[in-house]
Amino acid sequence: MIHSKKLVDITTEAGNLIVGLFADKAAGQASVIEAALGVKLSDVADSKYGEVTIISTLKKLESPLLYVVGLGKSEEFDLEKFRNVIGKISKKVKNNGTLLLETFGDDLPTLGKLAAEANGLATFQTGILKTEGKKQDSVAFTIAADADLDEAIKKGSILAEATNRARALVNLPGNYLTPTALADEVAKFAKEFDLECRIIDKPEMEEMKMGGLLGVNRGSTEVPKMIVVKYQGTDTFENVTALVGKGLTFDTGGYTLKPRTAMNGMQGDMGGAASAIGAFEAAVRLKLPVNLLLIVPSTDNMVSADAIKPGDVITMMGKKTVEVTNTDAEGRLILADALALANEYGASRIINLATLIGAIIVALGSDITGAFTNDEEFMTQLEAASFETHEQLWQMPLHPRDAKALRNSVSADLNNAPLGKPGAIMAAAFLKEFVGDTPWIHLDIAGTSESKAAHDLGPKGGTGVMVRTIAKYLEG
Ligand code: BES
Ligand code: MN
Ligand code: ZN
Repeated sequence: MIHSKKLVDITTEAGNLIVGLFADKAAGQASVIEAALGVKLSDVADSKYGEVTIISTLKKLESPLLYVVGLGKSEEFDLEKFRNVIGKISKKVKNNGTLLLETFGDDLPTLGKLAAEANGLATFQTGILKTEGKKQDSVAFTIAADADLDEAIKKGSILAEATNRARALVNLPGNYLTPTALADEVAKFAKEFDLECRIIDKPEMEEMKMGGLLGVNRGSTEVPKMIVVKYQGTDTFENVTALVGKGLTFDTGGYTLKPRTAMNGMQGDMGGAASAIGAFEAAVRLKLPVNLLLIVPSTDNMVSADAIKPGDVITMMGKKTVEVTNTDAEGRLILADALALANEYGASRIINLATLIGAIIVALGSDITGAFTNDEEFMTQLEAASFETHEQLWQMPLHPRDAKALRNSVSADLNNAPLGKPGAIMAAAFLKEFVGDTPWIHLDIAGTSESKAAHDLGPKGGTGVMVRTIAKYLEG
């Protein structure tokens, strides 16, 4: 729980005080604390960036404890370091914490927003299905400064909560988060904010000839869903950005079955959907003056007598035929229909997010998102947003060579997984076949959708990657 407060008297504040300490600057506002305790903070605490020294106030102040946060040299300190160090202290502080914002810098609205964002992200809790062990009590966190920060803090909190919604979705197992459950969750959100929501069910999908999504779903006992929600933030519904997310609730690989180690974790194959939903939620709750379409194709990828087989040919929504040489390259099949649908709805630009292919992890590792585009200016704008949120992305190339390789099929227009080619680029090239001339960015988050270890801004598990970056892009 985050509050803001105009602090008047440090000496009567009951919450544990959190104070920033630069290596090369006097204590400033915290000199009141120094006077009360009769020590210089720099004599008793480490000012190295990221070090936290916990000091008892020995009842010389109302606050029982003082958390002194080392910030390093002031010229090396920046907003990314601020966000991370607030995340770190948010996880450490016990009972109530009161952050003395002015000890961290001067731009109070920006710092206030980022502090709320970092606190919300860092304290996200996992393990909602655990029955053993005590759930951690949430710690009240007060941001104190001589400024009205209510708006800034609300904004930061919304960004954290929208990211955390994406994280929670990623963490749900495949038997809980079925395509139907995912559709229900989105419909509930749409209802809460009075948004137009259309869940396309299997019969309608058949009428619309969504052969990609229907094809991947053939092996499943779960029904597929194509989820569409509209948000109108301006007078007319034009200049629309479509957010399209891969909603694969479990990926066994299908008949091109994954080996057991590769199958583990594949409940997270709806990370693209989760991030798209999170970014959409952020825009809606921030009431951004933009128009959005959220489109999520959802199914699992299972094996049964009825499942699609290698070599089968399916007809996509846009009439193109595809030979499925690899049933494990399923994400591109369900996304192809979703991209065609985005165009049918008249999207002016499309951002799609997907845990599309392991090859992007080989190229970029687990903390950089791969980005592909058919519109350099669009990419420059999204990149600029990512510099502010400090979510790293790296542009990968598209090349006409690959459009040719995709046509290596004797039976159909396209081959969904030509052998021996650059995997991540080929996957993107396949998607590009279905976007037409619409400006488009594909974000491959196979490496970044989940974190293998706890970090300053959150626990192990779903990251909600790109939620904040897309929200920032939409905010302009
Ligand atoms: N969902 C996977 C991609 C993935 C891999 C996500 C690892 C997260 C972590 C995707 O559907 C897939 O199976 N891709 C194949 C592509 C291949 C069949 C062309 C892969 O990565 O091997
Ligand atoms: Mn797959
Ligand atoms: Zn997949």
